[in-house]
Amino acid sequence: MKIDGKPYRTIWLADDGRSVDVIDQTQLPHAFVVRRLTSMPQVADAIRTMVVRGAPLIGAAGAYGVALAMAEDPGDGMLDHAHATLLQTRPTAVNLRWALDDVRGRLRPLPPGARRDAAYARAAAICDEDVAICRAIGDNGLRLIRDIAARKQSGERIQALTHCNAGWLATVDWGTALAPIYRAHDEGIPIHVWVDETRPRNQGASLTAFELGRHGVPHTVIADNVGGHLMQHGMVDFCIVGTDRTTRGGDVCNKIGTYLKALAAHDNNVPFYVALPYPTIDWTLSDGVREIPIERRDGREVSHIAGRTASGTLEEVLLVPDGSNVANYAFDVTPARLVTALITERGICPASEAGLLSLYPEQREVRRA
Ligand code: MRU
Repeated sequence: MKIDGKPYRTIWLADDGRSVDVIDQTQLPHAFVVRRLTSMPQVADAIRTMVVRGAPLIGAAGAYGVALAMAEDPGDGMLDHAHATLLQTRPTAVNLRWALDDVRGRLRPLPPGARRDAAYARAAAICDEDVAICRAIGDNGLRLIRDIAARKQSGERIQALTHCNAGWLATVDWGTALAPIYRAHDEGIPIHVWVDETRPRNQGASLTAFELGRHGVPHTVIADNVGGHLMQHGMVDFCIVGTDRTTRGGDVCNKIGTYLKALAAHDNNVPFYVALPYPTIDWTLSDGVREIPIERRDGREVSHIAGRTASGTLEEVLLVPDGSNVANYAFDVTPARLVTALITERGICPASEAGLLSLYPEQREVRRA
């Protein structure tokens, strides 16, 4: 994607050939800042504090974290330490575990002297693969949007609704849920996006709105509770979201509040699509509600809100009375029965074990938990 005419990914190898540069997402939409990460602990910190976030991107960042660790010490001890340190930064998005297992599995059989270069090469390949996957998700989702467009009066806008940020900032490029929207917009299909603000961290208001605006896609930011009302009044043609972990049975874990949107969509016969790359599928799990670990974050994200003041400084202000308890559950699970279809890089399928296996037949033998 381009920022002020310059193409960017969200993560790339720095010009020193060792460090990793990332877009600091805690500063958006108010400032576009590139942060340089020079060590594995810095990568772990960037994932924990959500300088980088979004399931595919934290997988890619984790892979570069291992590479930085190997540049410092390519021994077995450091390999395991880097894997463990990076893995515990965020528990819900399975892409992180997928990437760390993948890189460690490839490095382990190599002599230590060969590990550094192999780790950087694999991290770069994971990034390139993510871009190709997201582009394919865009192509596949575009078919659904074309179908909706064909049922509209000529020139009438398609109304999409999305939650959180599953755009290019959440991946290496393109995004998952937003990729079909970018493709539709680029091919001239009139489309408007209702953007859930996505409390408590407001990834919709700050990141999705930033992305769509920079790409010229018409959009409107709404409070999280508005979607049901819009759906009751025929103002949403389809919902589309990303996911941090999807079980083999098609249960979808995504940013807190996704489940309520899926319930409203179901009640109003609005299609509810989930876009995902294959590393987001956890083939070992079948019951998403009971088995997926839900991240609980600092209550300060709920009790406070951050923004830019009239004088241009970024500030955080308190929202709740002193002494009130706060709870910060970061994700929820939408049962497969509420999901109209899954959109993957291999195609579109029902949210079910049979549906997923029809696209990924090689997973038939994977052990269930
Ligand atoms: O807590 P975040 O901002 O990392 O959560 C991100 C989401 O919930 C996204 O919807 C998800 O990672 C899908 S990303 C393409």
